[in-house]
Amino acid sequence: MNQNCFGITFSMPYEIAVVRPLKQTTLSERQAALEAAHLNTELIPQELIYLDLSTDSGVSASSTAQLSALTGANALEPGMGLAAEGSHVFTALADQLQNVFGFPYVVPVTQGRAAERIWTKIHVKPDSFVAGNMLFPSTRMNIEYGGAKIIDVISETAHDVESGDLFKGNLNLDKLTATVREHGPEKISCIYVELSVNSCGGHPVSLGNLREVRTLATANRVPLFLDACRILENSYLIKRREPGNQDRSIREIVRETCSLADGMTMSALKDLLVPIGGLIATRDKASYQKARMQSFLDGAQAPASAMEMIRAALQEIFSTDAYVTSRVEQVNYLWRRLKGGVPLVNPPGGHGVYIDVKGFLPHVAAAYYPTEALAAFVYATSGIRVTKGPPPAPSQIEHDVELLRLAIPARKYLQAHMDDIAEAFLYAFAHREEIKGLKRLHTPGRFRYDPPFFARI
Ligand code: F0G
Repeated sequence: MNQNCFGITFSMPYEIAVVRPLKQTTLSERQAALEAAHLNTELIPQELIYLDLSTDSGVSASSTAQLSALTGANALEPGMGLAAEGSHVFTALADQLQNVFGFPYVVPVTQGRAAERIWTKIHVKPDSFVAGNMLFPSTRMNIEYGGAKIIDVISETAHDVESGDLFKGNLNLDKLTATVREHGPEKISCIYVELSVNSCGGHPVSLGNLREVRTLATANRVPLFLDACRILENSYLIKRREPGNQDRSIREIVRETCSLADGMTMSALKDLLVPIGGLIATRDKASYQKARMQSFLDGAQAPASAMEMIRAALQEIFSTDAYVTSRVEQVNYLWRRLKGGVPLVNPPGGHGVYIDVKGFLPHVAAAYYPTEALAAFVYATSGIRVTKGPPPAPSQIEHDVELLRLAIPARKYLQAHMDDIAEAFLYAFAHREEIKGLKRLHTPGRFRYDPPFFARI
């Protein structure tokens, strides 16, 4: 893909060492599975799924180095407890993280949402405001639990599926300035910037935008935090799209991105290629001490095995740019295969391809669950699973945007799989008139937050 040497292209920087067979189901098996799942693809048993695009989180393939790290003595160390410095794995990981991200203090935790819960407990004050760029539902929820109100200051183009803006994740500086002015800087707990904004298409935030946000944050003494779980995709898209960054390494761009923030929370299940783990990183010693204690009290400390796997992944990710290149270019390949054939969010993002559901199924009103209906049709016809996923952001509801994310797990699928996915969605679009809306069943005994059961209307 981008690594040329005397005309030879080194497309993929790894080979397959271990495989898991995928079951090829018949149409009638899939139809029966869908009926049994009450037309909700979330409820389809894993063994009846061909390709699973419901998430890219915690489902990437492990490397041989990660698997051998799991069988080494370090992975068997007891938990960190209150004396983290006594843990071999913690001290080795902390060194490596400081080296890569540049924050002097790190707290390894169990997941991204655990990192957010601890971090917002420390930094978000009741009756305050947090300015963000279409933050992920778990981040929003943790901020709101802290008693603050979120003000979404993402660029207007983030709501425009057609716009070719290359940095739809950017913060709108006029809105941010107006927010600080209206409420006063002392009422803004922090500015929280999500990289590769998940809700609107995996769109990146540019370094130029982040520098301006930094200037504003410094001038007003408001802390600036990152949700950095997809910092790699964000950095790759900066390298490809933002002038002046073409000759820089991903590592340099990651480092500069972090240098503009006061701290970050990060789910390690995405870019750090592990099934469990998360991070808090900061420049502030007092916040670090509080976060460490809180992670102990919450029972949210990362186990040694997760830290060992992160260590192995960091080495692989940052030894060359080849891994990140292949990761994002695979997503880009699928986007190009679908472009022109299926209504898509423009331009391609970093970790998934997003379908514009209103453009795909204009004949199914929003009240009749068009996203779930499309997911059910695609599963029945191809065995590929997509799901509705996390709820849309309030600003997306306001703008009447409905998206279906095809999340691509890292290192897991091959180009032939991308072709199968493209064929499945091109087929669905050609047969879109057959896709009818659904109604939600109100089944006694099912809790409001249980995955819903549907019936055809
Ligand atoms: N921030 C973003 C941008 C996320 O996408 C997620 C999770 C989190 C925070 C929370 O991290 O899962 O480790 O607690 N996203 C998953 C997804 C669930 O499918 O996109 P977590």
